[in-house]
Formats: sequence, C-alpha cells, structure tokens
Amino acid sequence: MRKMLAAVFSGMVQKPALRGLLSSLKFSNDITCDIKKCDLYRLEEGPPTSTVLTRDEALKYYRTMQVIRRMELKADQMYKQKFIRGFCHLCDGQEACCVGLEAGINPTDHIITSYRAHGLCYTRGLSVKSILAELTGRKGGCAKGKGGSMHMYCKNFYGGNGIVGAQGQVFETYNMSALWKLPCIFICENNRYAMGTATDRAAASTDYHKKGFVIPGLRVNGMDILSVREATKFAANHCRSGKGPILMELQTYRYHGHSMSDPGVSYRTREEVQSVRSKSDPIMLLRERMINNNLSNVDELKEIDADVKKEVEEAAQFAATDPEPALEEIADYLYHKNPPFEVRGAHKWLKYTSRS
Ligand SMILES: *[C@@H]1O[C@H](CO)[C@@H](O)[C@H](O)[C@H]1NC(C)=O
Ligand SMILES: *[C@@H]1O[C@H](CO)[C@@H](O)[C@H](O)[C@H]1NC(C)=O
Repeated sequence: MRKMLAAVFSGMVQKPALRGLLSSLKFSNDITCDIKKCDLYRLEEGPPTSTVLTRDEALKYYRTMQVIRRMELKADQMYKQKFIRGFCHLCDGQEACCVGLEAGINPTDHIITSYRAHGLCYTRGLSVKSILAELTGRKGGCAKGKGGSMHMYCKNFYGGNGIVGAQGQVFETYNMSALWKLPCIFICENNRYAMGTATDRAAASTDYHKKGFVIPGLRVNGMDILSVREATKFAANHCRSGKGPILMELQTYRYHGHSMSDPGVSYRTREEVQSVRSKSDPIMLLRERMINNNLSNVDELKEIDADVKKEVEEAAQFAATDPEPALEEIADYLYHKNPPFEVRGAHKWLKYTSRS
C-alpha cells in the first residue's frame, strides 16, 4: 500500500502534489505583515497598516513579478538585436504597481492606461508569448502584430495609449469625474522622472495625491506589493460604495530610461539607480518577506526563477520566428462592425478589403 502511494506521488502524479505535501510541513500557510501607512488627502481613514499574506498569494505575486521583470529584460535584449523596432517603454522596477493593482480589483473591472504597459498586459491575462510577439510585430501578437508596445488590448483592458495624464486634460477629467461621481480610481505611477526631468524640477508641487482638489487621495509605497494591494482594495471599496472617484499616487522607480533611446543616466546617477535596486527592489522585498517568515525558501524560489526563465525564453523564440501578418490583412480589424474601408489619403490601399 505504502509503496503504491509513493509511486503515485513521485511518478504518475505531477511533482506539485509531493511538493504540496512536504511544504505543508515546513512552510507557514499565512503571515501577518506590517505595511507603511499611506499619506491621506481629504480622507479620515486610510487603508490598514497590516494585512495577511497567504503562501499561495505570495508565490503567485513572486512569480508574476519575476515574469514581468524577465519579459522586460528580454524585450530590452530583443530591441538591441533589432527584432523590436519603434517605441518601447519598459516597466522593470515598477512591477509591484501592476501586480498589486490586479490583486486589489476584479478581472471584470476595467483598466485603461498610458504606455509602459507591458506589465499590466500580462496581469490582465495576456501571455508572454503574445506580448513579445506583438513587440516584434508578428501574427501571434496580441494585437495581431499591428499595434506594438503602445497598443495592446484584451478583455476589460483598453491599452496602451500614447498620452500620459497630459497636464490640462487630467485636471478637466478630475473635475468631470467628481461632478458625475464616477466610480473611477485615478492612478499616478510616480517613478520620479518625466521623460528625463526629475519631478521636482517640473512640478511646483509634487504632492500628486492631492492634485484632484476635491477628489480624495492616497500616497502609497509603490515598491511594496502589499501596500499597493491594500490601497487598491481601499480605493475600490470607496468607488463601489458610491463615493465617487479617488486618486492614488504610487511611489515607485523606473530602472530603465524613459524609452529605448534613453540610457537613463544623463539626468540621474548610476548610484541612485543602484541604491534603489539594493534597498527597495519590489521583488527583493517580497522575496525577503517570504523567506524570513517561512512562506517559502531559497530552493523553492530558485525553482520558480528557472521556470520563469524557461517560459520567457520560449516566448522569445516564438516572437522571433512567428511570421509577420500578410500585407493583404493591413486593413483588417480597423472597425468593430463592417463599414466599407475608406481612409482619406490612403488610395493605394483601397484594393484591400477590410474584415472586422
Ligand atoms: C468643471 O466642468 C464643468 C462642466 O464641463 C465646467 O463648466 C467647469 O468650468 C469645470 N470646472 C473646472 C474648475 O474646471
Ligand atoms: C521557520 O522555520 C524554522 C525551522 O522550521 C524555525 O526555526 C523558525 O522559527 C521559523 N521562523 C518563523 C518566523 O516562523
């Protein structure tokens, strides 16, 4: 009897079953973590300053952040190898923002974002394969290879846009959303730099969480996935209970330059980047929390890292070899329904028919 069971665990059933059995003995199921108190604006109470983190959640967040980190580093490499052309903005360093956001809302909620969106594309459900193939402009890309870095979409996710909280418009939007009491969370992912200008050189006030005037705001440690998750849950409750919009500033950091043409070291020092990496890297912080509290151990996390590396390598292989979309398809999917294809000044394409 015993022998049979052992055979089942190690041979016929997958490894995780055995791992699960052993790990229940050696790992904690959940822990309570202290998180930094948020700065509040026009709010009497804010998100909690401690929260429970389960082992399953921790493993999931760790893996997701590692996938995004590796995917971005791969995109950097493929850009330099000229597989990727055009615009490309990487979000490594900011992983706790998209992963924490997704952990605090429901998949049925809607997200719209500016560029630097690859991480959100992944947390919204797109595969690494379809994201990298979109970056290389191939058929298997999530926008069929026609959108590239700034134009990726999926269910309840509306991209990927070129405009970043443009100064005038953002205030008009705050006003209208407050007037109409819209259930909307505005998120300012403050990575400390505009393209190449430090925030305090460009903004008379850097209290971004207060800039909605009548809209309540939170300033959140955007390097801590749990802080982002709890703040997001708080903000979502605020919206769902009919109190109107809320604004969150997530304080984070961008490791790469603004885009691929910016090495990112002419307006900040290498020491600054290095110091953020060594003191407040979002993946490192979660990793330490997990190991110090017996939620996981070095070996298990190494295994996840190896798995992630493999997944990203395979996706990159696909993105480099998948064919480009055919020229005849250039006019397809411009419209949701089926109007005749007619774009002003584009007569030479008129011979192509459009499919929706
Ligand atoms: C807010 O929006 C309303 C409606 O469009 C407009 O009349 C008003 O001037 C706006 N107020 C501010 C402060 O922008
Ligand atoms: C983690 O596990 C080790 C060995 O089982 C034990 O000595 C240690 O006290 C545990 N630490 C925590 C924080 O639970």
